[in-house]
Amino acid sequence: MKDPLGRLRDLLLEAGYTVEGVRGRLGDVAATALSREELVPALRATRDGDPLGTLIRLWWLGVPVEAPAGLPVAELARMGLLAVDGSRITAEVHLQPWETGGYVVSDRKVRPGDPALRADHVVGAGGASANLAQLVTRRPVGRALDLGTGCGVQVLHLAGRAEEITATDVNPRALELARMSWALSGIDGVDAREGSLFEPVEGERYDLVVSNPPFVISPRGRFTYRESGFEADGFCRDLVRRAPRFLNPGGTCQLLANWLHVAGEDWQDRVGGWLAGTGCDGWAVQRDVQDPAEYVELWLRDAAEQGTDRYRELYDDWLGWFEAAGVTGVGFGWITLHDSGSLDPVVRAEEYGRRVELPVGGYVDEVLGSIADAHRLSDAEILAARLVVADGVVEERTGPPGAEDPSTIVLRQTRGLCRSARVGTVEAALAGVCDGDYPLAPLLAAIADLTGESADDLLAKAPEVLRPLIAEGFFHISTG
Ligand SMILES: C[S@@+](CC[C@H](N)C(=O)[O-])C[C@H]1O[C@@H](n2cnc3c(N)ncnc32)[C@H](O)[C@@H]1O
Repeated sequence: MKDPLGRLRDLLLEAGYTVEGVRGRLGDVAATALSREELVPALRATRDGDPLGTLIRLWWLGVPVEAPAGLPVAELARMGLLAVDGSRITAEVHLQPWETGGYVVSDRKVRPGDPALRADHVVGAGGASANLAQLVTRRPVGRALDLGTGCGVQVLHLAGRAEEITATDVNPRALELARMSWALSGIDGVDAREGSLFEPVEGERYDLVVSNPPFVISPRGRFTYRESGFEADGFCRDLVRRAPRFLNPGGTCQLLANWLHVAGEDWQDRVGGWLAGTGCDGWAVQRDVQDPAEYVELWLRDAAEQGTDRYRELYDDWLGWFEAAGVTGVGFGWITLHDSGSLDPVVRAEEYGRRVELPVGGYVDEVLGSIADAHRLSDAEILAARLVVADGVVEERTGPPGAEDPSTIVLRQTRGLCRSARVGTVEAALAGVCDGDYPLAPLLAAIADLTGESADDLLAKAPEVLRPLIAEGFFHISTG
């Protein structure tokens, strides 16, 4: 006989309580209404009393249902997953299917009008969790660490790619729910440890560290799921600065982060300063920025605090604190560190809000490699290198109708980060001929012959012009 979580898992799978099953049953209208915290369309879509509809009502919508046949009610109630009232049961947790095929157990989402969140609330898997999961390298690794595991969702993504997984959290309740998530997802052997930041893994090293940390920047740590209690953006800063001590040679650390924009300071200097001196190559990408009021509203709404008596007071207090610190905005983004072993590490902090190919983890190692190549190659090495134009790069020429020459040429990536760069005729010509067969110098000499430009001038200018295009992945260095 299986244990209660094993029996629950079988029942969920049998009923089709999967991401596709829930999506199919709710349909777009009810699903979109739920994202606005409106339950009625979802209740209408699940009113037939069939197994799938009942499970959606129980675990997703959080409404009381008649216990479905086969559910080990008494055991699940003893484990704190259900409350029983006669033949009716109510979920004490949120249990959601996840895109990996597994399940995630967390505290129930609060909706406007619900009682206040408990300080040790365990947040469910959501947009930020998915964001980190898609950023994480797909390279198989030996040892992986998920710092701040919460409901355990990152482990669902790491399972199968990492031989050993350690998951930590400062909140013991998070570890309790995470263990249930892993059991329901058929994942065993996770080493779960309680403690703050890197304390639980002192003296150990990993090939991959991932973290969706408590990055919210606020006057005080009210909720563990989003705030660390560290001052301002100090948690993300310390995580970045300390991570290298916990990485194996060649290891990678990837996290989501928030950072302050402070009057008189460039955000790139702030975040670049966290990365500089780590000894690792570092890449920080700002995906979005919010002004202080938008930011405060977002997080008050997240905790369902709009409309409460304290809303104005909390809003005012938070804004006043930002104002006193000279905060002009808050950046949201990704940070990746790679212990390349180089004595000349590179740090790149850039703003990039555009759509990208997903998952970024499928090519993030290549992105870091390009940034490092461009930084470390000398001018002579660039001229001697055999360049290859990246897959999916297209050229766009625009200009007045009938004109012999275009007024602008843009190289555009249709893959990966989908960057674009305005280039001159020489780089465009190189993009047409660089297939890794010849070093750059003779190709430039041939272009000079065709265009009548001085070969010496082209050779002198090329490294400076090509370095950013190598860093941004338009050209790779052929190793073949
Ligand atoms: C935003 S949740 C992330 C949950 C989950 N990993 C995900 O991707 O959805 C942040 C987690 O960090 C934990 N946390 C808060 N302070 C921490 C600290 N000082 N050290 C380690 N974890 C902490 C919280 O308890 C919470 O579970």
